[in-house]
Amino acid sequence: MFLASIIIKGGVPLEGAIKISGSKNSALACLAASILTNETVILKNVPVIEDTKNMLEMMRLMNVKVNINGNALTIKSDNPDYKIPPHLSRRLRGSTLFLGSLLARCGRVKINGYGGCPIGLRPIDLHLYAFKALGAKIKQRKDFIEITADTLKGAAISFNFPSVGATENAIMAACVAKGETILKNVALEPEVLDLVKMLRSMGADIKVNSKRREIRVKGIKEIGGVKHKLIPDRIEAGTYAVAAVITAGKVTLQDLNVAHLEKVIKKLLEMGAEISITSESNLEIHPSKSSLKSINVITKPYPGFPTDLQPQFVTLSTQAHGISQISEMIYENRFLHIPELCKMGAKIDVFDRKIIVKGPTILRGSEVYAMDIRGGAALVLAGLIAKGSTIINNAEVIMRGYEKIETKLTRVGAEIEVIRR
Ligand code: EPZ
Repeated sequence: MFLASIIIKGGVPLEGAIKISGSKNSALACLAASILTNETVILKNVPVIEDTKNMLEMMRLMNVKVNINGNALTIKSDNPDYKIPPHLSRRLRGSTLFLGSLLARCGRVKINGYGGCPIGLRPIDLHLYAFKALGAKIKQRKDFIEITADTLKGAAISFNFPSVGATENAIMAACVAKGETILKNVALEPEVLDLVKMLRSMGADIKVNSKRREIRVKGIKEIGGVKHKLIPDRIEAGTYAVAAVITAGKVTLQDLNVAHLEKVIKKLLEMGAEISITSESNLEIHPSKSSLKSINVITKPYPGFPTDLQPQFVTLSTQAHGISQISEMIYENRFLHIPELCKMGAKIDVFDRKIIVKGPTILRGSEVYAMDIRGGAALVLAGLIAKGSTIINNAEVIMRGYEKIETKLTRVGAEIEVIRR
């Protein structure tokens, strides 16, 4: 793991095209799912970022063969080890996704700590509740968790919150359970449905009823291999859309899935952004004719406004005329970017879950600290428009979720440099 700082000289309107990479959160789920089978799995459009590198390192240490060819992977798990390497599992939340696939494949799994952005407590009680319902036994001592199941049996599982990870883990475990599993109040994020698409191509019997937020899985004996291309990263796309709007640039976003950004595009248009959708996978952003208007946003499970774009919209709101209200309803601690933005001159207050932003304010280049992936991205956006230079320390957290961020931004005119050490 390297350390990095990002230095940005602000004031340049971005101009040009940005190609959107494959989805980080789809990659993490599909990598975990690849060990459900002893046949070959080929994954395409996999972003080369710290989180996927760490997942692949864990897989190698769990005796999985991985061949990397740029953004394409060939994976073969003949006899995977059920122990998840603790020194790596603590680096990201995605390691919890091996729980479902290893339990299904090996009948047991051990994890000793897991990581993830410090944006809340982020327990995995819903994951464990689903495994127990499927007949698994759980031993837990602090961070150490061992889950065993001689056989997994189909069950009726109703989540009290549509957790993305718990939904993904329950589906993977249910794929080989005896009988039918009915999951209620499931997450329907595009990344969950991308995992479902991959599992179906592997032979899994999965039916999704989005209206009722219900997923039915009929267990099968053997899961086969697959060739699967990951969906584009809607959060990366949303981040660069904000970068174009906030710098009053002229930017084309390519290879995204516009439909996954419906609520985000709607909010940008409400603020006065000039956006033309040229196809289902491309959109163009032009300098807005009027000044940006303030907005009200409430983060919700998909198809609501995504929590992973809350920090970026907080930065954008510092440039909007008036008072914006952004309520963070998913994570109790996704506010770590706010003191850093205030250091740059932003006028932001937080009352319980509500973030109140007064704009427009002039942001000044400062030395700031990235606490998590999306909070760090929000600081990059602030640096792009700040007067003078901004130094973002702990920038390695940003590299966890954004492939080639400095290359992509340099290509559209940003004055950005990454110092690795
Ligand atoms: C996934 O995290 C994403 N990460 C997150 O993206 C994203 O913010 C989140 O979904 C919501 O969309 C990956 O897919 C690797 P949750 P996950 O389970 O699965 C609580 C990024 O920046 N909860 O839907 O962990 C939890 O504490 C990251 O790319 C429980 O209480 O999200 C949180 O408050 C950040 N018990 C809320 O639910 C549980 O068992 C949402 O969590 C599970 C979750």
